Amino acid sequence: MTALLALKNIKKRYDQHTVLNGVDITLHAGELVSLIGTSGCGKSTLLRIAAGLDNAFHGTVEVPGPEANDGRNPVGVVFQEPRLMPWLTVEENIGFKDGRADKAWIAQLIADVGLAGLQNSLPKKLSGGQAQRVAIARGLYSKPQILLMDEPFSAVDAFTRMHLQDLVAKLSRQYQIALLLVTHDLDEAFYLSDRVVILGGRPGQIVREFTVPLSRPRDRRNDLLAHFRAEALSVLTQLQV
Ligand SMILES: Nc1ncnc2c1ncn2[C@@H]1O[C@H](COP(=O)(O)OP(=O)(O)O)[C@@H](O)[C@H]1O
Ligand SMILES: [Mg+2]
Repeated sequence: MTALLALKNIKKRYDQHTVLNGVDITLHAGELVSLIGTSGCGKSTLLRIAAGLDNAFHGTVEVPGPEANDGRNPVGVVFQEPRLMPWLTVEENIGFKDGRADKAWIAQLIADVGLAGLQNSLPKKLSGGQAQRVAIARGLYSKPQILLMDEPFSAVDAFTRMHLQDLVAKLSRQYQIALLLVTHDLDEAFYLSDRVVILGGRPGQIVREFTVPLSRPRDRRNDLLAHFRAEALSVLTQLQV
């Protein structure tokens, strides 16, 4: 299986402070991988590097070029906050970078994320969960092969969160998108992922990787998921001390 995204020996420092010290992660087509770790261990830094938003690092990032994706950016990003433009409507926020916005595709995405009827609303009219759905639709607009998400559900309530998790799992299957999800939520990581990677230590390195051999749809109450969560919690607790 060839890697769609390959992060190789990534090292990053801010001035004298080394944040990442030789991190390797690969993501294959259609795969869902979670990156989990304690606060400040370098998760967002790594995601920004993978997204091409930070070029001041050592190591290599291999992603497909635009030619592999019909000239569009093969990498979509969803951040923790929706980051919507307040003066643009929902549909404009989803396709705002594109001068020749594909209206039919935007309408499809709005329906996919459950916002039908709100295409002309401004962000101030939306709840936190709705705004994050717009951000997810915007992340999908370029029909990316890879979607990078940085704690995308942490600002919404527990039920909306579960709903958005299922939505993202469904869309990733529907559109064959590989997902790299940064989260600090163990339930979320194991419920959604094919693999869960734990980043930890100072400077940050990969300390453990779990493979989750469960088909989908999954039951959140599955015993194996509980077993994995307990194991990962032990690893994270040891990192804290
Ligand atoms: N722009 C920056 N300048 C200096 N230090 C930074 C900057 N951004 C992040 N850091 C530091 O790098 C470390 C990792 O940050 P970050 O990647 O945001 O962690 P995480 O997302 O895992 O919580 C932290 O110690 C943070 O303070
Ligand atoms: Mg972060």
